[in-house]
Amino acid sequence: MKYKSQKVAYWFFALSMLLLSLQLIYGFIMGFAHIGYDNLHDIIPFNTARAVHTNLLVVWLLSGFMGAAYYIIPEEAENELVSVKWAYIQLISLAIVGVIAIVGYHFNYWEGRKFLEIPRPLDWLVVLNVLTFLGLILATLFRGKKKTTTSLVLTMGLVFAALLYLPGMIWFDNQTMDSFFRWWVVHLWVEGVWELIMGGILAFLLIKLTGVDREVIEKWLYVIVGLTFISGILGTGHHYYFIGTPKYWLIIGGIFSAMEPLAFLGMALFAVAMYRKGEKKHPNKIALMWTLGTAILSFVGAGLLGLAHTLPQVNLWTHGTLVTAMHGHLAFWGAYGMIVLAIISYTMPNLTGRKLYDSSKGLLAFWLSNIGMIGMTTAFAAAGVAQVYLNRIMGLDFGDSQNEIQVHFIILILCATLFTIGIAMFIIEFIKYGRPNNETLNNH
Ligand code: HEM
Ligand code: HEM
Ligand SMILES: [Fe+2]
Repeated sequence: MKYKSQKVAYWFFALSMLLLSLQLIYGFIMGFAHIGYDNLHDIIPFNTARAVHTNLLVVWLLSGFMGAAYYIIPEEAENELVSVKWAYIQLISLAIVGVIAIVGYHFNYWEGRKFLEIPRPLDWLVVLNVLTFLGLILATLFRGKKKTTTSLVLTMGLVFAALLYLPGMIWFDNQTMDSFFRWWVVHLWVEGVWELIMGGILAFLLIKLTGVDREVIEKWLYVIVGLTFISGILGTGHHYYFIGTPKYWLIIGGIFSAMEPLAFLGMALFAVAMYRKGEKKHPNKIALMWTLGTAILSFVGAGLLGLAHTLPQVNLWTHGTLVTAMHGHLAFWGAYGMIVLAIISYTMPNLTGRKLYDSSKGLLAFWLSNIGMIGMTTAFAAAGVAQVYLNRIMGLDFGDSQNEIQVHFIILILCATLFTIGIAMFIIEFIKYGRPNNETLNNH
């Protein structure tokens, strides 16, 4: 750690881990509901559990990204964070808005728009929160000594992510229009600007962990960013096939979204190549595993499993089924969950001065969570394909087809248990590191 103010990152990571734990509880509630044990139905019906599960996911990832930015920007810009006090105010207000939203969902205070369930009045609080965050990051960057490509790409991703929140706040009476702009947030986040955030964090980690020259890593980053943008923007069309938009989206969405996996493949090949090129290997092997894991699993989850249902001929059948949940899990985990755990694994020894990166628990956390998640994805895939066949091709009633696929949810719960043990170990390690302190200043 080079700057005292980087310690702020720790608290964002802690909030992130807390919300991740809560997310998993709601995942289990839904998993059990799928096999007929919907005992909590009166308090937490399935739709509430689903909204809480996915919203907690988004907030723990955002909290992780913010922590990453509070750590990376001072170090890259060579400048203390402009105000530590405001960063803590921003942290606490983020937690408060999150709690109000999640509690509200249990009392039907929400909007039925997947991922954007937060009611509009609360959206304004989110806007205030994010403006505070961006103000701090931008001021730190522009008053700093250096503006590296890595810090600019990361910051650009964060600024664009904030801007793209706004289309989701416009009110439409028309369902198609509402859906159209909902995807500007959901799709253009995960398949556009969040990739910049991920690219920025990935570049930072690769520079630190492989010892390869910054120039080499950053040059490639430009190429990947270019690919992401070109394919991801028009790739939005893969959500416009059947929602009442003009027919040309079938072709545009099909072609451009089918190119998207190339950007992810590029990122995976790039990360592995940098790893192999690097001579000065950092001792923090666990951080390196999470970093390479991100690049590889995001290609599988987002790239390959996205490609699996992105053509209109396939999506016609699979749209809105458990095939989507299959892809949603591995994509979110591989790309964004893992990059957050990667930056946490890298920064914790630097923040606390304790070098726990050789522990077998850390390794086990990596393998159990990843094997568990791949198992969960497989269970969703089997359930999804069977659902498409039974419900959409054979014409079985929705409820009847759900009964037929229950067995896959038993497997899902088993794999989710493995995953959860892995995450629990990661969090135990996190707690064992203890609080950040100034011990490691200037010697990282
Ligand atoms: C890290 C990047 C990605 C993440 C986190 C992600 C996640 C998700 C999620 C959560 C959904 C469900 C959204 C909703 O219904 O509101 C979804 C839908 C979809 N994704 Fe992705 N995705 C990613 C990248 C990709 C890529 C690269 C492709 C194509 C190659 C793709 C293809 C699709 C398609 C076709 C759907 C619509 C499914 C349906 O019709 O129900 N995704 N994605
Ligand atoms: C204990 C672990 C978990 C369990 C048991 C679980 C289970 C579930 C279930 C049953 C659903 C609803 C599927 C349906 O609509 O019927 C769901 C949705 C979802 N979960 Fe999880 N989940 C877990 C962890 C995670 C993690 C770690 C992530 C992300 C990194 C995640 C991301 C999602 C997403 C994006 C959706 C919405 C998918 C869609 O739009 O179709 N889940 N989860
Ligand atoms: Fe998309």
